[in-house]
Amino acid sequence: MIKHLGIIGAGTMGAGIAQAAALSKVEVVLYDINDTILRQALERVKTDFKKGVEKGKLTSEQTTEAFGRIHPRTRLADLSHSDIVIEAVIEDLRIKKDLFKHLEADTRPTTILASNTSSLSITAIASAARYPERFVGMHFFNPVQRMKLVEIVLGQRTSPETAQRAIDCARQLGKTTVVAKDTPGFIVNRVARPFYGEALRLLDENVASVEEIDRIVRIEGGFAMGPFELMDLIGLDVNLAVTQSIHEQFFGEPRYRPHSIQKKMVESGMLGRKAGQGFYKYEKKG
Ligand SMILES: NC(=O)c1ccc[n+]([C@@H]2O[C@H](COP(=O)([O-])OP(=O)(O)OC[C@H]3O[C@@H](n4cnc5c(N)ncnc54)[C@H](O)[C@@H]3O)[C@@H](O)[C@H]2O)c1
Repeated sequence: MIKHLGIIGAGTMGAGIAQAAALSKVEVVLYDINDTILRQALERVKTDFKKGVEKGKLTSEQTTEAFGRIHPRTRLADLSHSDIVIEAVIEDLRIKKDLFKHLEADTRPTTILASNTSSLSITAIASAARYPERFVGMHFFNPVQRMKLVEIVLGQRTSPETAQRAIDCARQLGKTTVVAKDTPGFIVNRVARPFYGEALRLLDENVASVEEIDRIVRIEGGFAMGPFELMDLIGLDVNLAVTQSIHEQFFGEPRYRPHSIQKKMVESGMLGRKAGQGFYKYEKKG
């Protein structure tokens, strides 16, 4: 059983994983580079808890207790007592490798080191590590509170014990798991590339509008969200980084080529819900 979970990065995913873990009675140390980011993350958790209580899904006692289990920190060394550390910083191999290099020195040899990367190779993230056998991918989905699946990604040198502990941890957080090979995009993000790519091409060719494409995919496809709604939820920057990473790792395979619309939107700061503007307009949060 996991008692202490460390999380690196208090963005969309880090805060979501912290929330899910705290509700499962796990003590969480949530690390990010500054107090402002951590404060904003805790505000988002509080707002989501409040909604849960209003909808009758959670009690106020549950949320108060869970909130008290999330401990914000700005020193990486404060993660040293974690049974497992899940990294959820930006999708950049160099940054992730560097963080783990420091973290490995600070944690016990039994600590599992997991990355929530959407597309990067777990083998590459662990390549500079002294103990690559304790590295694994734990790919949660957005929003973590509602999405059931966690992909457990096995790097070239991930040990069977590490894989099992990651599976157990995900289950403890109430999730369903699937074990995936360490291949670009794993299962879900690989399947999802044409979902976004073809929708962007349809838009670019003026075949249909953003709203029409989303509506058709929801109504006729039975999807919970259309491709543009989903890109706004994920974040255009995150989605572009994942597409670029998969494209590069498949040696420029044209099927995974990013679209210029994505790039232009990122350059103009239209990052989706978190920016108040993406393919749709939103009321800006915190
Ligand atoms: N957004 C999604 O839908 C989604 C879904 C599954 C997986 N992911 C993956 O999860 C990871 C995080 O994505 P996100 O959407 O939460 O990103 P985000 O931009 O919302 O948050 C990233 C956080 O990392 C922090 N950070 C950056 N560099 C750091 C450093 N050196 N040390 C500590 N913190 C640092 C930032 O301050 C920020 O709070 C990425 O690898 C992404 O591919 C994202």
